[in-house]
Amino acid sequence: MSANIAEMEKRRAAAKLGGGQKRIDAQHAKGKLTARERLEVLLDEDSFEEMDLYVEHDCVDFGMQDQKIPGDGVVTGSGTINGRLVFVFSQDFTVFGGSLSARHAQKICKVMDAAMKVGAPVIGLNDSGGARIQEGVASLGGYADVFQRNVLASGVVPQLSLIMGPCAGGAVYSPAMTDFIFMVKDSSYMFVTGPDVVKTVTNEVVTQEELGGAITHSSKTSVSDLALENDIEALLAARDFFDFLPASNRDDVPERPCADTWDRLEYSLDTIIPPSANQPYDMQEVLRKTLDEGEFFELQPLHAGNILIGFGRIEGKTVGIVANQPMVLAGVLDINSSKKAARFVRFCDAFNIPIVTFVDVPGFLPGTDQEHNGIIKHGAKLLFAYGEATVPKITVITRKAYGGAYDVMSSKHLRGDLNYAWPTAEIAVMGAKGAVEIIFRGQDADGIAAKTKEYEDRFANPFVAASRGYIDEVIYPHSTRRRIALGLRKLANKSIENPWRKHDNIPL
Ligand code: HXC
Repeated sequence: MSANIAEMEKRRAAAKLGGGQKRIDAQHAKGKLTARERLEVLLDEDSFEEMDLYVEHDCVDFGMQDQKIPGDGVVTGSGTINGRLVFVFSQDFTVFGGSLSARHAQKICKVMDAAMKVGAPVIGLNDSGGARIQEGVASLGGYADVFQRNVLASGVVPQLSLIMGPCAGGAVYSPAMTDFIFMVKDSSYMFVTGPDVVKTVTNEVVTQEELGGAITHSSKTSVSDLALENDIEALLAARDFFDFLPASNRDDVPERPCADTWDRLEYSLDTIIPPSANQPYDMQEVLRKTLDEGEFFELQPLHAGNILIGFGRIEGKTVGIVANQPMVLAGVLDINSSKKAARFVRFCDAFNIPIVTFVDVPGFLPGTDQEHNGIIKHGAKLLFAYGEATVPKITVITRKAYGGAYDVMSSKHLRGDLNYAWPTAEIAVMGAKGAVEIIFRGQDADGIAAKTKEYEDRFANPFVAASRGYIDEVIYPHSTRRRIALGLRKLANKSIENPWRKHDNIPL
């Protein structure tokens, strides 16, 4: 018996050493943690239960039969984050560069299947040289097996990817199909073809970081939701983020004790809207003053800053926030902001997370750039996402709600459940000056000014919309948190269903 235990311990120790001390040192020298160290930071202490520690590849080409490392380059299993179950895989760059063999893929598939069976999120820590070159097509098959599971898990259990090293070629498509991606600055990159191929094909010279680093993907492409300074920061952010997520589409949002009183009044909001409609103010301040303990976990802060998305809590329970940001491009809707918010709204809807929308939007951004790049199709994404969402939807119009953008931003007509406006709200087809210049074209400056004043007096308020029932109530700004909390209580048992269909056909 003791000999058996000794054998087990020997095998375990060998597996835990991965690709050996030299490669572990090399990993550390790059400022990266090892696969196991990462799991120690991500998961609650001593909660990790490993699976498939002894799995090895079965490749016999290129001398691989003599190079077997138990675990085969990926550490898989389950654990907890603040007591809640999560399934994880963590690619081990010290073992064949974390490259994906058929068995490595099989291990990832196994944890994904287990997560689906019990309804728990999956977090993948990616650090891999891509397909295991020695295995050829077996590795490609392995990737596709993972891809298929990403697709089937989408909307069933939350999937989060942390990119903590290379992630290139077709390998990018697994994270791309997960719900959220966090990237580590300077040590991670994602691209379909790397700088060398780019140089050969297009003659462009570009670094890995410029082509597909954390900043590129968090600002330009929006492939990544957050760029973090280092491994530790990324893993701790993932823990905080996880606390907002329900375990699956059949679970309620998590709830945690909250010291912030639900009916806290915030009088400073009564004066936050500047006297001139053209002056910006910071919507972040409105969010912080409304949410529990001022906490707003923002996603994609570096991309399409004219709209804010992220999670917060009201009475300890997760809410999804979508908010126009007047500080950037006056909060206008454009292609990027529409796409950014649409995907987030769909995530919230898939996972029963109520959506609170703060509106201050002057309309859609005009211009050939927007039109020629498809604002029609991309703007429709957000409209569609709100229109199909069946979760509780609360809307607060703080100032402008003009034109089509009024309709889009979770209006009553798109089944907004509770639509509130501050007294400073202006709900109209467009801004007064633009409107008057169209309907009174040719009038002199004085005439335009007089008509503008008339238009403002008539429409630059929430009461015309409220008189039609498009707004449920005009509320004091200071009571916003209280009204949202009451609204969410009221909507806790909301139940509506869309008509039966195989799936919808959102404009992609
Ligand atoms: C097998 C690999 C490997 C791979 C790296 N290694 N990538 N082994 N298959 N894909 C091994 C190396 O041989 C080396 O082994 C160890 O991992 C570390 O690699 P280094 O090159 O020393 O590390 P570094 O300098 O940091 O460079 C990392 C890297 C580079 C940029 C990822 O290794 C690289 O370019 N690898 C190949 C990438 C690639 O072309 N992959 C296939 C893409 S196609 P030793 O024993 O020396 O430690 C693809 C298709 C997927 O992925 C399609 C899905 C649909």
